[in-house]
Amino acid sequence: MTQPSFAFSPAVAAQRSEPHDSLDFFPTPPWATRAFIAHVAYPVLGVRTDDIVLEPACGEGHMAEPLREAYPLTIASDIHPYGYGEVFDFTEAGPNRGACDWIFTNPPFNRAVEFARMALSLARRGVALLVRTQWLHSGERDDLFREHAPFVIAYYVERVPMHRGEWKPRGSTATDYCWVCWKRGADPRPPLWIPPGQRKALTRPDDAARFAKPVAAPLFEAGA
Ligand SMILES: C[S@@+](CC[C@H](N)C(=O)[O-])C[C@H]1O[C@@H](n2cnc3c(N)ncnc32)[C@H](O)[C@@H]1O
Repeated sequence: MTQPSFAFSPAVAAQRSEPHDSLDFFPTPPWATRAFIAHVAYPVLGVRTDDIVLEPACGEGHMAEPLREAYPLTIASDIHPYGYGEVFDFTEAGPNRGACDWIFTNPPFNRAVEFARMALSLARRGVALLVRTQWLHSGERDDLFREHAPFVIAYYVERVPMHRGEWKPRGSTATDYCWVCWKRGADPRPPLWIPPGQRKALTRPDDAARFAKPVAAPLFEAGA
């Protein structure tokens, strides 16, 4: 697998057609990935800065770019040509599946079990999936968890607003999210909580310019 070109442009992204609803494109707020790195990936999973990380449902790069800030060897792909990363269906076996140490992603909700199984078959050191907490329930997940007991589940105390098709810096949500993490060869450990305050602490001044779609400017200034 080759390195994708990381030329993220919200202006260009704004012009692209939205993928079909079934692709479940809900970009992750950049601060939420940074919080995962600071509180889970680095201290709990033990991900090293020279590890190879794959983000296989990268969308427009909202998670892959913050991952690259900490893990420069992050590679990215998606089934839809958003203009970021390589393009292929992660759930299908194929020649593009390169060796990687970790697979981190926010998979399409309805295919998250397939993503988990494929990721667990590929990643050398471990996998972490960002999912709605309701994904933890029901029979399909039960089978997965029986076969592959998670190493740890990390819950955001704070809400992580995700919206279809774009990241809204001022967005809100009633949905709870958590990371389900597997670490090869490690015994399961108790859940942990990603503390509040991450959105404020880890949103960077240039995030809106990098990741949000441009707000349409008014044609005339009021009172002009
Ligand atoms: C919830 S969004 C997450 C996007 C990105 N990971 C992020 O956090 O901003 C799910 C993504 O999965 C992609 N996707 C859906 N089915 C896929 C498949 N079979 N293989 C690869 N990507 C897929 C969608 O196009 C979409 O970009």
